[in-house]
Amino acid sequence: MFYGLLIMFIVIISYILYKGYKNTQDVAVNYTKLGNPSSHSPTIRILHVSDMHLENISITPDQLYKKISDKQVDLIALTGDFLDRKWTIPKLIPYLNILKKLQPTYGAYVVFGNHDYVLRERNFKKLKEVFHEHGFKTLQNEREMIEVNGKAVNIIGIDDFSTGRSDLVKSYQNVGEGYHLVLTHDPNIVLHMAEHRFDYLLSGHFHGGQIHWPKPYHLVKMGKLARMKMVKGLHHFRGAPFYISEGLGQTGINIRFGSQPEITYHDILLDDVVKKEAGEATIAG
Ligand SMILES: [Fe+2]
Repeated sequence: MFYGLLIMFIVIISYILYKGYKNTQDVAVNYTKLGNPSSHSPTIRILHVSDMHLENISITPDQLYKKISDKQVDLIALTGDFLDRKWTIPKLIPYLNILKKLQPTYGAYVVFGNHDYVLRERNFKKLKEVFHEHGFKTLQNEREMIEVNGKAVNIIGIDDFSTGRSDLVKSYQNVGEGYHLVLTHDPNIVLHMAEHRFDYLLSGHFHGGQIHWPKPYHLVKMGKLARMKMVKGLHHFRGAPFYISEGLGQTGINIRFGSQPEITYHDILLDDVVKKEAGEATIAG
């Protein structure tokens, strides 16, 4: 009797883990479109990948390439949590090589997440070097200006909020006119950005809950946005849109329930129509 129940228990748990693992292989390709379609502003297509968590990623570089090779992209944005362990760093290289093959017109930009900062300083330095050697620009409270058909676009990389590394003043230093595209890992930073305008912000961090069933109780500890049930997709802060990617890899155990790994294309009309007037801070889903 006891052994019968034990075997049944093991079979059920194995089945649940198998189903959860299969869910991690089902990568969604999502699209957002932003801006006023009647404006004549230049457009930009961004490929956004977040939370690769290379210790627990189910999509191989070749499979990823098959998903993304048919589209021209103008810019690549990687919003942190690549890995936690130094011996995973070489695993990043084939992914960077396939992303590089897309030859984004305006380059590829990287911000780091809380997991990347688990690395010892010298290993973190190595991680950064790998990005630089492969032509990816890292932004830690820094910005880069690009010009898209005559329109200035400030790419503002705000360092990770959850580990206390965000420095908004430094990030916005010398940021001039133009479209403000913010890249950051933890979207909770938007709640502190009343004085720092953005036209669009890309982030990740929550994995859409990862195990979002029956309820993502563990997200309660992950800041105010999570408690407001904003853990994935497009939302607004004071009228300005921000996007939370569900991420490509998994943390802890390589399973997902009620969430799906994703890569995202953002097609943006660079018309910065959203005016950030001083007023009530409002969040709308
Ligand atoms: Fe993550």
